[in-house]
Amino acid sequence: MMPPKPTPRPEKVSLWRYLKLFREDILSAQPAKLYRAWMAEFRTSFFRSYMINDPTLINLVLKERPDDFPKSDRIGAGLRPLLGESVFLTNGETWKRQRRIIDPSFEGGRLRETFPAMWVAGEAAVVRMHGLADGQPHDIEPETSHAAADVIFRTLFSIPIEDAVATRVFDKFRSYQRTQPILNLAAFIPGPTWMPRFFKSETKQTAKAIRSLIAGLTEKRLKAIEAGDAPDDLATKIMTTADPFTGETFTVAEMVDQVAIFFLAGHETSASALAWTLYLLALNPEWQDAVAQEAETLTQNFSSVSKLRKTRDVFREALRLYPPVPMMVRETTCPENFRDRDVTKGAQVVLSPWHLHRHERLWENPDGFDPDRWGTDAGKASARDAYMPFSSGPRVCTGAGFAMIEGVLLLAMIVKEFRFDIVDGKQPEPVAHLTVRAKDGMWLRFVPRDK
Ligand code: HEM
Repeated sequence: MMPPKPTPRPEKVSLWRYLKLFREDILSAQPAKLYRAWMAEFRTSFFRSYMINDPTLINLVLKERPDDFPKSDRIGAGLRPLLGESVFLTNGETWKRQRRIIDPSFEGGRLRETFPAMWVAGEAAVVRMHGLADGQPHDIEPETSHAAADVIFRTLFSIPIEDAVATRVFDKFRSYQRTQPILNLAAFIPGPTWMPRFFKSETKQTAKAIRSLIAGLTEKRLKAIEAGDAPDDLATKIMTTADPFTGETFTVAEMVDQVAIFFLAGHETSASALAWTLYLLALNPEWQDAVAQEAETLTQNFSSVSKLRKTRDVFREALRLYPPVPMMVRETTCPENFRDRDVTKGAQVVLSPWHLHRHERLWENPDGFDPDRWGTDAGKASARDAYMPFSSGPRVCTGAGFAMIEGVLLLAMIVKEFRFDIVDGKQPEPVAHLTVRAKDGMWLRFVPRDK
């Protein structure tokens, strides 16, 4: 059975119908031709946007001249109350300075140090899931969300998700997402400047509550650093790293913005990736058995994760078919020429991992689940041109290395323990919420493997 794909909209619809569909779900709002096109222009009298699938153009925007294609302010509009001046939203010198301080904490050697905390989070997830392993249908998204949130809290602040503050942050994030979907219409399509952009007061209040909880954690940590008894986790590393250019470290206020994005970007995305991977394995029992078998070699030693080759290929393939961040938006800052078309200053440039990863001219069997492709020359060539679940270039996801370890580790630990099965009549329908999720939940049956 082919993994589910949203039904594209008909080729011709009116602008208003398009906007309505877009509001419902940005994936099914797009026509099928985007899986074949190198570029698509969408223009009305008040905005222009260009979706680019041409690898040369993507390279230009993300790698060759990234400073000329900053993030649009619109994308920030929905997030600003929560994320303030976080690295996810800033541009120019502010962004560069923030990356200089953050990046060293996510480098290879440092990742090794986060491994024990990830391991404990994986064990805790397995214990929780045993309570549901009765062969009855369960929505596993809350489980993967819980596990990913636990990983973030343990690696960042050395506290488990059961910690009172961590639990409150987690709960508040959930209600924030319900009131403020992040990939909203305004982010993609700049309306006329007179168009009001309200935040529901509930959204603002929730953002405030989350930020004050995070501020509490951050202030406490600063005191511990000053007293010399802070744990050696990601928060301490980031807060004690000085910008090599200016010698300055983050202030508490700046750190609160960064913690908010680490939590949001780190847990939502990994939760989505893990849920889709488990579904794909339920659909492909032979791969599920291969992952379970490989997981027998896993030890508490960091280097044993790198030996899980099949599990990594499965996870990569899941990120190809269901990239948690389906689309990204940039803005032109000067007139450009894209594929012989003049593009005005201020136009929106949409990069779509979703379409690129399933592009009919760039992948063989684009909609099929085939982890073996990662070992073939054709697969490797496609990956070079058309695979960017973590974006690419200087603005690549800070947590890419972290996520590849976390994802493979949790997957191996969970699949070693349980056997997953699909539920008839409950095929997940991919939709873009904050990340790519299953419209009505991800329903699976699972039992302990030894039964
Ligand atoms: C499977 C898991 C993940 C996926 C698929 C993913 C994907 C992405 C993508 C596509 C972007 C670029 C967005 C854009 O440019 O508009 C991004 C940015 C970012 N991600 Fe991730 N991410 C994942 C996990 C993580 C984790 C675990 C962390 C941190 C612990 C993290 C932190 C960030 C941050 C801070 C940014 C902003 C970087 C910048 O703009 O300079 N992500 N992520």
